[in-house]
Amino acid sequence: MTLQFSLVAAAPESVDSPCVVVGVYENGLLTSAAARVDGAAGGAIKRQVESGDISGKAGSVNLLFAPAGVAAQRVLVVGLGAQKSFDAARFQKVNIEAARALGRLPLESAVSWLADVDVPGQDAAWRVRTAALAADHAAYRYTATVKPRGAGQPTLAALAFATGAEAQPGLDQAIAIAEGVRFARELANLPPNICTPAYIAAQAQAFAEAHDKVACRVLDHEEMEQLGFGSLLAVGRGSANKPKLVALEYRGGADDAKPYAFVGKGITFDTGGISLKPGPGMEEMKFDMGGAAGVLGAFVAAVKMGLPLNLACVVPAAENMPDGDSYRPGDVLTSLSGQTIEVLNTDAEGRLILCDALTWTARTFQPQAMVDAATLTGACVTALGKHASGLMSKHDDLAAELLAAGEATLDRAWRLPLWDDYQVQLDSAFADVANIGGKSAGAITAGCFLSRFTDGQRWAHLDIAGTAWDEGRKGLATGRPVALLAQWLIDRCA
Ligand code: BES
Ligand code: MN
Ligand code: ZN
Repeated sequence: MTLQFSLVAAAPESVDSPCVVVGVYENGLLTSAAARVDGAAGGAIKRQVESGDISGKAGSVNLLFAPAGVAAQRVLVVGLGAQKSFDAARFQKVNIEAARALGRLPLESAVSWLADVDVPGQDAAWRVRTAALAADHAAYRYTATVKPRGAGQPTLAALAFATGAEAQPGLDQAIAIAEGVRFARELANLPPNICTPAYIAAQAQAFAEAHDKVACRVLDHEEMEQLGFGSLLAVGRGSANKPKLVALEYRGGADDAKPYAFVGKGITFDTGGISLKPGPGMEEMKFDMGGAAGVLGAFVAAVKMGLPLNLACVVPAAENMPDGDSYRPGDVLTSLSGQTIEVLNTDAEGRLILCDALTWTARTFQPQAMVDAATLTGACVTALGKHASGLMSKHDDLAAELLAAGEATLDRAWRLPLWDDYQVQLDSAFADVANIGGKSAGAITAGCFLSRFTDGQRWAHLDIAGTAWDEGRKGLATGRPVALLAQWLIDRCA
C-alpha cells in the first residue's frame, strides 16, 4: 500500500488529526509550530525540554499523548539538532526519523509541520518533495515473499504537510518519483528465482501496456544472436534463465526531439560464473540488477511526471552462472560493436552486457545523452563507500548536470577521472580489449572499458555498487539512483 500525500493549511494546535508532527532544535529552541502547540498545551513541550526528556538532538523523537488544549490526539516532537548547522541532509534525516516513528504508532494519518522549517538555499517545493520522499522511503515494506510484521494493526496511510500551496509542484514530483523509487526497490528486493531476465521483461511490458506514450520492445537471445550481441550472450550462456534485452521508449516530447537514454545493468544474479565468487554474502548479488531497477524506476518517474521529453530505457538482463556451457577465462568474444574482448575474469560480467547494450542503444536511438547505471565494481565501494555513487564521464557539462541533480536530491554522486592514461590497463595480446584492468583503479578501468563502446556519444556512467542497497542480511534496495536521474530529467525540461 502506498502512502498518500497532501498539503494542508492548518494550525498545529487546532487541527483534528491522530498526530501532529513538530520540530524542536537543540538548546530548547522551538519551531513556530512547536511554539504554537506548546502555548496551547500550557507549556507541555517546554517542560519536557527543561526536564531533559526532549533533547532536540537531530532525529530524536518524543510523543505527547492527548495533551490538554491541543485538538490532535498526539504530538510527535522531532529533534532538529542545532539550528545554525541545520541543512538539507539534516532535513532529510529528521523527516525519515519522523516517518519511522509514525510507522511504529497505531495510526493511519498524520499532519507534519516539518516541511515548514527553514532550510538554507531551498524553497518550499524542495522541502515538501524531500520530506515526502523521505517519508515514503521510511514507509516502504517488502512483503512480496514474507508476511508483514504487525499485520492487522493500523498503519500510516496518509501524511499531510502543512505548508503553502506554492509547494504543490514539489509534492506532485515527489509522488511520481516515489512511485519510481518503489518500483526500483521492489524489483531489486525480489529474490533471483523470481526476478529473472524474463521477469524484468514482463514488468517492463506490463508498464508499457498500462501507459500511453510508452512502448516496449524485448529482444530474446535468438534475436540477439542474429544481431551479434556476442558479449552479452556469452555472460548469460551458463544460465537456464536466458538473457533478454529490454527497451522501453517514452514519447512525451516533440516528434523530432532526440531522446535521452538510460542503460541499466540487469544481472539478476551474479555468482561470478567460472571465476566463482566466495560463498558468504553471495545472496547479495541478487541486487546486481540494481542499475536496471534504477533506470526503470527513473523511467517510471519520468512517465508519471509527464515530462515533455523523449526517453529510452534499455536493460540488458542476464544471469551469470557457472555451467558446462558457461563462458570462460581466456575466451575471446566479438561484441556487437565488432571489437573483440578477451575475458580474463568471468566475474567482470557487468561491463560485458553493458557494452553491447550501449552500442545498441546508441545505434537504435541516437540519443542526445546516454547515462548508464550499474552495480559494476567492488572497487567503487572501496573508494566511495555507501554514500556516493561513482560518476565517470568525459563530458564535463553532462557530469556537472548529474552531480547537481545528485546534490539537489541528496542522492549524491562523486566524480572519478576517466583519463585515457588508464586505458593501457585494458591492453590484451589476444583481443582489442581485456575485460579487467588489474589491481589498481578498478572502478575507473571498468568505466574506461565502457568508454570504448560509446564513441561519439554524450555519455556518463554511474557505478552504484555501494549505493544501490544497504548491505547485510537485512539490507534492502535503496532505490538509488532514481531520484538523481529523475531530477536530471526534470532539470533538462526547465
Ligand atoms: N557485481 C559485481 C560488483 C559488486 C561487488 C557490486 C560487490 C557490489 C558489491 C561485479 O560484477 C564484479 O564482480 N566485479 C568485480 C570485477 C573484477 C573481477 C575486476 C569486482 O568488483 O570484484
Ligand atoms: Mn561480477
Ligand atoms: Zn556483477
